[in-house]
Amino acid sequence: MNNDGNTTEPRLGRGTARTGVWFVGARGSVATTAVAGCAAVTAGMHPPTGMVTETAPFTGTGLPSLASLVFGGYDTVSCPLPKRAEHLTEAGVLPHGLAGAVRTDLAAADREIRPGGPLAGDTRTDEELIAAFATDLESFRERHALARVVVVNVSSTEPLPGPDAVRLPPSSLYAAAAVRTGCPYVNFTPSTGLRTAALTDAVAASGLPHAGRDGKTGQTLLRSVLAPMFVQRALSVRAWSGTNLLGGGDGAALADPAAAAAKNAGKERVLADTLGHSPEGEVHIDDVPALGDWKTAWDHIAFDGFLGSRMVLQTIWQGCDSALAAPLVLDLARLVARAHEAGISGPLPELGFYFKDPDGGPAGLSEQFTALLSFAGRLRETR
Ligand SMILES: NC(=O)c1ccc[n+]([C@@H]2O[C@H](COP(=O)([O-])OP(=O)(O)OC[C@H]3O[C@@H](n4cnc5c(N)ncnc54)[C@H](O)[C@@H]3O)[C@@H](O)[C@H]2O)c1
Repeated sequence: MNNDGNTTEPRLGRGTARTGVWFVGARGSVATTAVAGCAAVTAGMHPPTGMVTETAPFTGTGLPSLASLVFGGYDTVSCPLPKRAEHLTEAGVLPHGLAGAVRTDLAAADREIRPGGPLAGDTRTDEELIAAFATDLESFRERHALARVVVVNVSSTEPLPGPDAVRLPPSSLYAAAAVRTGCPYVNFTPSTGLRTAALTDAVAASGLPHAGRDGKTGQTLLRSVLAPMFVQRALSVRAWSGTNLLGGGDGAALADPAAAAAKNAGKERVLADTLGHSPEGEVHIDDVPALGDWKTAWDHIAFDGFLGSRMVLQTIWQGCDSALAAPLVLDLARLVARAHEAGISGPLPELGFYFKDPDGGPAGLSEQFTALLSFAGRLRETR
């Protein structure tokens, strides 16, 4: 047990078997922070703050150790990972000196990043793209003799596909390749991924565990704590409005109203699921490049008390998005890899704790945490 009350399992917990983590969006802020952070924690340079899987309830669950994770993935940009980590240091996301200290790990992951697609002017059909991605995944698994590879989508948020779309969105092409090659899958973004009718049969037949969608790291995390409080105290929420200011790649992607719509649908779902109705109010996302990876989220909650007395709660969340997301991404990769090893298949509602738009399960954070702990118990029993 370290100073933060976290436990650390032996470095290579389960024999010498190694687990691949294949990031879609591998040169982005979240993926780069996850690779750098995994190396830093493994080397004992930093405690695993923010990693739920490193806390006591997960001891003995057989999760792959952080040292056993091998990283690779796709990105449509070419900035080398060590350089990307330097940019994140300049932006204050990574601590000074870390990028240099874990340079070997970043360079190793960088060698396993492929261009993905579809790239500008790409003439390949959906089937050709899926086949090419499947070949990349198989090659990664074989070259590193990996026990399994978890595909984790941390790519830029896509616009919601239109009703007449004839092509699959990129997130679904990558997800289809994961299913075809027997890779468990995590969607940390609001993009479609596996949630398309085109993949329903293949996903069901694959028997693979999968989890999504859209990581719950800030504003929605707070909403999933506060909304049950209003319900439990029999207070009537009249309106819940929110504004987010952020920069970075995510801020730029979400400046597109169609991408923001995909994000906001998940943010609003938690209120409808918890309160039993959708209160008045909207969520807005503003791209403020000067803020970089730091997000400010302001919520204004108008509610009624006894005899209709009108009250307001306002909250301001200021967080570093990648530092919040990266430990959760590592948690999810380990949990879904272990579920695969244990023969657990299908959607994992027990991981709803991590998502804005989960695959079923309770909506409040407290109940979601209880479900996660039961899942840890189930993993422990299957060892
Ligand atoms: N940081 C958080 O707190 C948080 C929370 C929930 C969800 N997310 C989601 O995680 C994702 C990543 O966030 P980020 O801050 O790292 O964004 P980012 O912009 O830094 O990284 C996204 C990466 O995806 C790459 N990309 C775009 N299209 C691609 C494609 N077709 N194939 C492969 N790669 C592609 C981009 O080049 C970029 O490097 C976003 O969708 C975001 O909404 C983040």
